[in-house]
Amino acid sequence: MIERTLVLIKPDGVQRKVTGEIITRFEKVGVKIIGMKMMWIDNDFSKKHYKEHVEKPFYPGLEAMITEGPVVAMVLEGVHVIEIIRKIVGATEPHKAAPGTIRGDYAHVSAEYANTKNMSVKNLVHASGTKQEAEAEIELWFKPEELHSYKTVHDVHTL
Ligand code: CDP
Ligand code: MG
Repeated sequence: MIERTLVLIKPDGVQRKVTGEIITRFEKVGVKIIGMKMMWIDNDFSKKHYKEHVEKPFYPGLEAMITEGPVVAMVLEGVHVIEIIRKIVGATEPHKAAPGTIRGDYAHVSAEYANTKNMSVKNLVHASGTKQEAEAEIELWFKPEELHSYKTVHDVHTL
């Protein structure tokens, strides 16, 4: 039941200087940050990360957005963490994301609006969608020695 997931604070989140606020939301629920770094990825890396989207019409805008500046990448560990983090992050389109979610609280635009301007939906955060996606993404972004095993107070009080 203890899973791992990959989370990125995308360039829009970093440039809006809400990295700390976003990380705080993850820390508050008790999931553990087991790896974290800042990376500025290139077009080839984007095609690996977003391989399922490369042929889609919105991909050029997505690649431009994810490579326009550095991202903060992290691996989070916890019980059902993939599902929990997707819930905290909210729906892909900010205009559909519920209030209280990161995308619902920090943005409001629709894919229709962004895509008609040939832009990607700026929704601040990426989070793995499935166990399979999480495993592949963690392998792409982190070396095994960049992931750490340690105890937090949640290991005592919430697990
Ligand atoms: O990020 P998430 O898994 O929620 O959504 P996705 O369907 O895997 O799409 C990846 C990213 O592509 C989204 O987070 C958006 O930034 C972008 N996107 C877009 O710009 N326009 C769309 N019509 C769909 C997705
Ligand atoms: Mg996705």
